[in-house]
Amino acid sequence: MNFSIVSGTTNEPLAAEIARHLGHSLVPRTLRRFPDGEIDLHLDQSVRGQDVYVIQSTSPPVDEPLAELLFIVDACRLAGAERVTAVVPYLGYARQDRRSRAREPLGARLVGKVLASAGVDRLVAIDLHSAAIEGCFAFPVEHMTAVPALAKLLRPMAARNGVIVSPDLGAVKLAERYARELELPVAVVHKQRLSGSEVRAIGVIGDVAGREPIVVDDMISTGATIEAAVGALRAAGARLPTIVVATHLLLVGDAAARIAALSSCRLVGSDTVLLAEPPAGIETSRASVAWLLSQAIYSLHCDRTITELAGHA
Ligand code: R5P
Repeated sequence: MNFSIVSGTTNEPLAAEIARHLGHSLVPRTLRRFPDGEIDLHLDQSVRGQDVYVIQSTSPPVDEPLAELLFIVDACRLAGAERVTAVVPYLGYARQDRRSRAREPLGARLVGKVLASAGVDRLVAIDLHSAAIEGCFAFPVEHMTAVPALAKLLRPMAARNGVIVSPDLGAVKLAERYARELELPVAVVHKQRLSGSEVRAIGVIGDVAGREPIVVDDMISTGATIEAAVGALRAAGARLPTIVVATHLLLVGDAAARIAALSSCRLVGSDTVLLAEPPAGIETSRASVAWLLSQAIYSLHCDRTITELAGHA
C-alpha cells in the first residue's frame, strides 16, 4: 500500500512542507464553496487502496475547517482509500474536554464522534490542550509535542536567571516540561476565567522577583491569559523582558495588539496555525512542525514506533 497526502485549505504551506520532506506531492484537489457556502470538493487524483493522510488544522473559525476535514475524509473513503489518518496540527474544541456546568455539550467528544463517523481511522495532533482528551476518541490518537523544537529556539534567548511560568493551573505540566528542557525553575499564575475573552490573575505562586519570565501555554487565543499573567508577574517584581511561548498561535481578534501593548514581550510559537500576517509590533520566532509531522506520517505508514519521535519525555 502506498501513501497519499491531501491538504485542507487552512495551512497549505505547512502541508506542502510536510510533503516536501517526504518527497511526495499533495493529492491535487478542487475545494471551493457553492454560492450558499456549502463545500464543493473533488479529489483530482485517485486514492483507491491508499494509506491517506489528511492535513488540516482546525484554526479559527474552527467549524469551517472542521467541516472541510470531514468532507475530505468522506471523499477519501468513498474513493476507496484503505486507511485515513487525520493529521490535525491544531485541534479545536480540545478545551471542551469536560463540562464545567450542567446542560453543556462535550465538544471534544463530539468532534471525536463526527471524525469517527466520517471515516477517520487515526488522529495525529500536536500539543493537545490536555492529554486526557484522548479518551474522547474511539480511534488511536498519536499525540505529538512541539516542545523540544520550541525549547531549541528558546535556549539561546533564555536568561540564566529565568523562570518558566505557567499562566494557569492547567499548564503546569507543560511548564514542568519546558523547565526540564531549559533547566529553570517553575512558577504558576493563579488565573480565574471570567468569560471567553476576559481572565483575572489572582496571584503568583513561586519566586519570580528579579527573574526574567518565560510564560508557556499550549495556545494563545484572545491573549487574555497572557495579558493577565504578564501583568501579575511584573507586579510581583519579575524583570523585563518577558518571553511568551505557545505551540498554537491562534491570535484571534486583537490578541497580537494586546500582547504588543505589554511592551518588552517576545513571542515564540510554531506554524501549526497559519497566520495571515506576522504579528505587528512583537518580535516573533516560529519553529516549524513540518519535519516532526513528516516523520510521524512516514513512521505510521511503515507501522514503526513513534514513541520517541512524539517527544513526550
Ligand atoms: C486555557 O486553559 C488554555 O491553556 C489557554 O490558556 C487559553 O485557552 C488561552 O486563551 P486566551 O488567549 O483567550 O486567554
